[in-house]
Formats: sequence, structure tokens, C-alpha cells
Amino acid sequence: MTNNIVWHAHPVTRHEREQVNGHGSAVLWLTGLSGSGKSTVAGALEQALHQQGVHTYLLDGDNVRHGLCQDLGFSDADRRENIRRVGEVAGLMMDAGLLVITAFISPHRQDRQDVAARLSAGHFIEVYVDTPIAVCEQRDPKGLYKKARKGEIKQFTGIDLPYEAPLNPDIHLDGQKPLDQLVKQLICELKNREIIG
Ligand code: ADX
Repeated sequence: MTNNIVWHAHPVTRHEREQVNGHGSAVLWLTGLSGSGKSTVAGALEQALHQQGVHTYLLDGDNVRHGLCQDLGFSDADRRENIRRVGEVAGLMMDAGLLVITAFISPHRQDRQDVAARLSAGHFIEVYVDTPIAVCEQRDPKGLYKKARKGEIKQFTGIDLPYEAPLNPDIHLDGQKPLDQLVKQLICELKNREIIG
């Protein structure tokens, strides 16, 4: 597909964009079960960063599936393509100098590794939002677990399709801790990595 296509290196670099922004760029990749708290944590983190003047963008599974990925379902192949597209978009946004936060179940280790491999080393930060399925099912914010248990939704992660938890995530979040603690933990991690000041 990339025959006869040559990469063109444009003069303005990511590093120069980061200098204008006054902070680094990265992709903070939140993975976890449906109902684990990914979107909530991602939203609260983005708000806190935004208030500090950090240039951010949040890519969220439920939203992206309304547009960019509206043609995709929940088979393994479709999820793989979902994650591939989001990884590419996140990479472009990172190249634009943004601190990108993503909130996708992204159940397959290989798919997450493939996204990481497309980004320069150290710029893909895997965050495992670790909430046991029993807790996610109890929360059931969208009533989807109930439907999945009744067989009204097929291929539901954790019920009839597996979730492959990260074996060695860059950041481990206990999804049962209070939201403000989780946001503090992430901000601290970003400071330690010198992505933000
Ligand atoms: S992913 O597996 O491809 O990464 P993604 O994060 O985009 O999934 O979308 C997950 C969201 O879609 C869930 O939060 C839930 O609201 C909704 N959803 C609908 N059907 C399913 C399903 N079969 N499995 C998981 N989530 C589903």
C-alpha cells in the first residue's frame, strides 16, 4: 500500500511544538474493562491538566465510535482496527505537541503493543485502570453488563470475550480509589517523567 510513497520530513518538528507549548507530548493510554472508570479518570485528568495550561486532547471509545470508527463492531478484528485507527490519530495529535489521553477497553495486549511500537520510545504510557469485573458489573453505569448477561449484547468484554490485562503497565491505577487520588497519581507520574512541569 505504501509503494511509491516517500515520507516527507517537514521543517517544524514535534520538539519545536513542545517548546512553544511549554510541556512535553505523550499518549497516556488508559486500558481496562467497561465500567472500570477509564472515561471518568481521563476526563478529570484532562480537566486538571487544562486548568494548568497543558494542551490536551481526550480520545474516548464511546465517542470515537460515533464517527471515526462508526463502521466497526466488537469482533476481535474490528477492535483491532478500532485500536489501530485510534493509535494513529493519537500519534498525529502527539506529533502536534499535545498530551493525548485515550480511554479504550483495548482488550488485546498485542494491539496495545502495536500502537506503542508506532510511537517513539517513552511516548506511549500504558495505564491500567484495574477494577475487578465484579465491581464493574455492580456499577454497570450504562446497563450493558445486565444486557450482556441476558444475551442481549454479544461479544461483551469480560463476559463472552476476554480482557488481557497489562502484565507490566507503566502506571497501575486501583480503580476503586477515589477519583481525586487517581488524578493526583497520574499528575505525579507525568511530572516524574518531565512531560509537565
Ligand atoms: S474496544 O474494545 O474496541 O477498545 P471501546 O473502548 O472502543 O472498545 O468501546 C467500548 C465501549 O463500547 C464500552 O464502554 C461500552 O459502552 C460499549 N460497548 C458496546 N458493546 C460492547 C461490547 N460488546 N463489548 C464491550 N463494550 C461494548
